[in-house]
Amino acid sequence: MKKILVATEKPFAAEAVEGIKKITEEAGFEFSLLEKYTDKSELLEAVKDVNGIIIRSDKITPEVLEAAKNLEIVVRAGAGYDNVNLEAATAKNVVVMNTPGQNSNAVAELALGMMVYIARGLFNGKSGSELLGKKLGILAYGNVGRLVAKIAKGFGMEVYAFDAFVPAGKIEEDGVKAVGSTAELFETCQYISLHIPANEQTKKSINKNLVSKMPKNGVIINTARKEVINEDELLEIMAERTDIKYVSDITPDNAEKFAEKFEGRYFFSPKKMGAQTDEANINAGLAAINQIVKFFKDGDTTFKVN
Ligand code: 3PG
Repeated sequence: MKKILVATEKPFAAEAVEGIKKITEEAGFEFSLLEKYTDKSELLEAVKDVNGIIIRSDKITPEVLEAAKNLEIVVRAGAGYDNVNLEAATAKNVVVMNTPGQNSNAVAELALGMMVYIARGLFNGKSGSELLGKKLGILAYGNVGRLVAKIAKGFGMEVYAFDAFVPAGKIEEDGVKAVGSTAELFETCQYISLHIPANEQTKKSINKNLVSKMPKNGVIINTARKEVINEDELLEIMAERTDIKYVSDITPDNAEKFAEKFEGRYFFSPKKMGAQTDEANINAGLAAINQIVKFFKDGDTTFKVN
């Protein structure tokens, strides 16, 4: 009997877990659960005899793959799979999948929520500003970027986007202005919402040079990954340009330095919560188990990323 483990340091909503368990058992598989674990050793122990794992931002390292002797598939219930060592998984013939689009709306709503929050001075009671008529630049026009554009248009924002892999014509079909480069996006827009994955090309790519191009009162909203920011350079430019603000759903490595120097000009969620809604948990969690069942029953590898 195939054994499936849900290993989530940050747990899914209870309804999502119940749904995953039900689908697992209806498929004739065994269900196991490891939530809120605090030490890697707990994960290493839990994976020992499993054939499939569902994770969130949990790290699947070569050590975990080594411990999981029977592992055939890992599904990251979510979009970004930078937490999975793809090379090591491939070397061990382990299929890795994500569940694209399933938690995108939750992240997009949070991006707009963060924009309102910073525009209103972190709800400090003083006069703030509105999003209506402001220029928003969306960096990477994937599932989340598209939804951010849609919601931002509801706010009456002027929406721009750049994506190296999406043709301008596709972006323009949505009534969004396509620009030719990341630099042009930063030059044009007061608000920049980041939706790029963290990979070798994008790590530390949001740097001083780009941020210094932003119009007055520039705001960067990061619901992507902390790794895409060059934090040292962001600290530098925020010291020089006292109008720039940074809001992030991921606490940066240098959080204390931002706190020391830039009161009122930053906000960081204590724990990444973009995808932390009941709806996103249910959508992504059930998609993950359905993909695992299809993989074991029919050999389906539709969402394979390695
Ligand atoms: C994703 O890549 O899907 C999001 O960053 C959500 O991550 P989480 O499942 O750890 O909340």
